[in-house]
Amino acid sequence: MRKKIAAANWKMNLLQNEGKALINQLLATLPPLSEARQVVIAPPFVQLSQAAQLLSGHAHIHAAAQNCATEQSGAYTGEVSAGMVKDAGAAYVIIGHSERREYYQEDNATLVKKSDIALANGLQVIFCCGEPLSIRDEGTQNNYVETQIREGLFHYDAAQLKNIVIAYEPIWAIGTGRTASAAQAQEMHAHIRSVIAGKFGHDAAADMSILYGGSVKAANAKELFSCPDVDGGLVGGASLVAEEFTGIIDAMVNC
Ligand code: 13P
Repeated sequence: MRKKIAAANWKMNLLQNEGKALINQLLATLPPLSEARQVVIAPPFVQLSQAAQLLSGHAHIHAAAQNCATEQSGAYTGEVSAGMVKDAGAAYVIIGHSERREYYQEDNATLVKKSDIALANGLQVIFCCGEPLSIRDEGTQNNYVETQIREGLFHYDAAQLKNIVIAYEPIWAIGTGRTASAAQAQEMHAHIRSVIAGKFGHDAAADMSILYGGSVKAANAKELFSCPDVDGGLVGGASLVAEEFTGIIDAMVNC
């Protein structure tokens, strides 16, 4: 089912008591959610169980991991498996964030392994794509993102695709305060949807949730989320501030 999602990616921020306080603040002002209007919160691994416990009993607001291992279990010091993420109470896992691709050299083959194992463990995948500034300046962003999607997702079938959400995050807009314009976001999201339609058919494409990420704030969320192919956002900095993220949730619910 195509759903709108406001997803918080806390990245490597907040200590346990801060995370708990933020979740409690969000829960206190949460508007009515539904299967079609969801909130996702991705804290660091060490807060995943705490977050899932705080969110349990609140429908349609889910915990997510920011990453998972390529392997199911074993001698992989420092890694956290998809099974552990699921066991901690998470429903989603973010795969392929540009910070993972860039700082931890995660290529498309690695990301395929991570998505495969996440799906096999019953998690839903938020698959990130997006171009760097040099590609945007060249004007080849559509091809660039299409390749990420082809190499990351085209091996799935339409049934598996139902457990995948795409997040388009232009790297030049992440943490820079330079948001993509609504027109730029809509153009890329429509392109992504047409790429999905070309491979999986129009029904699968119409069903796909495509989130925008990159300097989303309460002040610009409504304009971005009103675009016909933008189904909500994956939010970094602004998700760390209760009033900001609440404003973003409200924009998602009301768009
Ligand atoms: P900002 O919202 O801080 O730009 O980060 C976006 C992001 O990377 C979310 O995953």
